[in-house]
Amino acid sequence: MLRAHNFSAGPGEMPLSVLEAASRALLNVPEVGLPLLGISHRSSWFKDVVAEAEQLVRELLGVPKHYHIVFLQGGATLQFSAVAATFLRGTGFHADYIQTGYWSEKCLPEAQKEGNIRILWSGENEGYIRLPSDSELNFSEDAAYFHYISNETVEGLQFHRLVGREGVRRVCDMSSDFLSQPVEVDKFDIIYAHAQKNLGPAGVTIVVLRDELLAGIPEGLPAMMDYRPHVEMHSVFNTPPTFAIYVVLLTLRWLRDEIGGLTQMKRINESKARLLYDLLDQSAGFYRGRAGKADRSLMNVSFNLSTCGMEKDFLIKAESQGLYGLEGHRSCGGLRASLYNAVTLESVEVLCDFMQKFQSEYAPSSASKIDNTGAVR
Ligand SMILES: Cc1ncc(COP(=O)(O)O)c(C=O)c1O
Repeated sequence: MLRAHNFSAGPGEMPLSVLEAASRALLNVPEVGLPLLGISHRSSWFKDVVAEAEQLVRELLGVPKHYHIVFLQGGATLQFSAVAATFLRGTGFHADYIQTGYWSEKCLPEAQKEGNIRILWSGENEGYIRLPSDSELNFSEDAAYFHYISNETVEGLQFHRLVGREGVRRVCDMSSDFLSQPVEVDKFDIIYAHAQKNLGPAGVTIVVLRDELLAGIPEGLPAMMDYRPHVEMHSVFNTPPTFAIYVVLLTLRWLRDEIGGLTQMKRINESKARLLYDLLDQSAGFYRGRAGKADRSLMNVSFNLSTCGMEKDFLIKAESQGLYGLEGHRSCGGLRASLYNAVTLESVEVLCDFMQKFQSEYAPSSASKIDNTGAVR
């Protein structure tokens, strides 16, 4: 079977063994004798699927006992509202946010519908090319919570440190780097992430939340934004996306059994990103990385060529060679290679090879030969 190298920003690449197992289950789940899409979410089989998925997230991330893990719908976008409704609705308190890119910009208006939001820092005027340092962040001590996005998917900016203030609840959208590396879960009050980057198909969003928050949730929230019924019903309050959750389970098993856990996953992700960033850095300015070096994302490598025409040509040639999903986001154009968990080192090597050849054709004098270790020859 011919498989393109998939650098899509999401829904993105999935491990081949997971796709194979999912397609077998689509036709027949042997334990049940029915096709996956026709099995009730109230069946004991599906209850076991949710329980195992929950247990595996707990195991892989080291989630403490006093945290719940739920599988919800509405994407990360519904969480923009649910988080703010949980902590702000009717309270008169404010929340601290930072505006570090396209997605943190998108979450602000949703939060503002629920209460007062203070924007501690914005990278908008600089064109979202870097993240703030701690000294630029003046956290309030009385904020109901602090919200940030660990990895800005569009611009390719990733925090490589914990951000926030001791004593203020920390809430993080980890949609594009969840389970790509270990995380100190007990430093967070809520972590949310949709599945379609590192975990499975679109349609399910994972929320990890501290138990004690449940007691403070205001009455009267729409049930889909109120975490309590979902926790009580173990993610089957209403009909959940059974297919998506099952594929998430398969991906979690892959992470544990084939990859060997999150420390190993991070190592692999670092090697992939290093290959590509080294190539950008050694291209004598032919490829221009978008993000400041200290804040470069291991997940999304956003870059430009000097003209739009060249970028178009790059995309056409890349696709003709089976390299898919390299177009930048519609908000900022350019090029972007997403290196999520399931993208293999081999795919990144093929991409780097293509990029070197492309550079030699366009600008032979600037092209240098880089081997797989990043050394220039
Ligand atoms: C970091 C981040 N947050 C939120 C979203 C929105 O997610 P959804 O489409 O699941 O609502 C995205 C989409 O790609 C994202 O990358």
